[in-house]
Amino acid sequence: MKIVTIVGARPQFIKCAPVSRELRQEHQEILVHTGQHYDPAMSDIFFKDLNIPRPDYNLGVGSGLHGKQTGKILAKVEEVLLKERPNLVLVYGDTNSTLGGALAAAKLHIPVAHVEAGMRSFDRTMPEEINRLVTDHVSELLFCSTETAVKNLGSEGITKGVHLVGDVMVDALVLNKEVALKKSSILETLGLAEKKYYTLTIHRPGNTDNRQNLSAIIQAVSKTGMPVVFPVHPRTRKYLKEYGLLKILPENICLIDPLGYLDMIRLMASSKKILTDSGGMQKEAYMLGIPCITLRENTEWVETLYDNWNILTGSDSKKIWYALIKSIHVKHQRDFYPTGAAKKIRDVINQGG
Ligand code: UD1
Repeated sequence: MKIVTIVGARPQFIKCAPVSRELRQEHQEILVHTGQHYDPAMSDIFFKDLNIPRPDYNLGVGSGLHGKQTGKILAKVEEVLLKERPNLVLVYGDTNSTLGGALAAAKLHIPVAHVEAGMRSFDRTMPEEINRLVTDHVSELLFCSTETAVKNLGSEGITKGVHLVGDVMVDALVLNKEVALKKSSILETLGLAEKKYYTLTIHRPGNTDNRQNLSAIIQAVSKTGMPVVFPVHPRTRKYLKEYGLLKILPENICLIDPLGYLDMIRLMASSKKILTDSGGMQKEAYMLGIPCITLRENTEWVETLYDNWNILTGSDSKKIWYALIKSIHVKHQRDFYPTGAAKKIRDVINQGG
């Protein structure tokens, strides 16, 4: 089978790595990078860390308003699909690259397979929620990470082509954790001691594009008295500068460039707690057994909330502070997110869906 895989943003490089390994054993895969993420620290390093084959196409769409970025992806992916004429188009997650890729394929009547289908935050102000909804409704194969996702699709009337396979980010973590712990020297480079620091990431528009929210998060973590390592997404750095917050960052916040996959896993694995608005990192924190504070009002990964392993605080500095000082006594259950999703995806594709 000829399969075109479309990726473009950081989490998609991680998700496609274990699946590509499986698919390439039996199928021809054409890898398309939309160019949504283009900085070497947001893109190239992931291909290197995760041994992902070089993309066959880089569409170079770059940044822009949502409509323009998605439109460019749609037009450019269409050209590739007309040339390659694949049997299947594979898309991942919930970014503008997911939506543009899925729409281009569906309009050419090429079957779409969506990995991480059925995730819902039920918050339509998030661009990702729109991307998820539309992509799922034009997909023929819907690979779900959790039972919650299967139920979400069912309540929208989507039951055909739905497969509960587990989560591919868990596969990536299991494949790479040992290497990360052995190879990465990020703790030594930053002079950090095990469990004596926090890790912070912020990139959602709801937090970055609002001075008050960004300031409230910074203010809450400034009181910890412990280092807070903050690998900063380019959009967040831009806003920190624009709001004048960069110059007045509290001393305990250690602002660094975005990290590659292996360094990020090592940094997370030794953190006291993780504060983030990323979807993937909530799951990774859970798998690594590190308590997570999610700087959002909702989450698609509801299983992580059991026993307070993940606490939703939004950008409310009081709630963040209470979550920081709260201790957790309950053992966590890793089996919410079993491994083996990539193999199951390959099996379903082999059987023709
Ligand atoms: C995107 C996804 C989000 C995902 C995140 C992971 C959408 C709608 N959002 O958000 O779901 O969790 O990626 O990081 O697709 N920029 C750079 N260099 C880069 C990439 C981005 O400077 O390599 C800056 C640009 O100023 C750009 C901004 O970041 O305007 C936003 O980038 P974009 O890819 O549109 O969305 P993300 O915020 O990264």
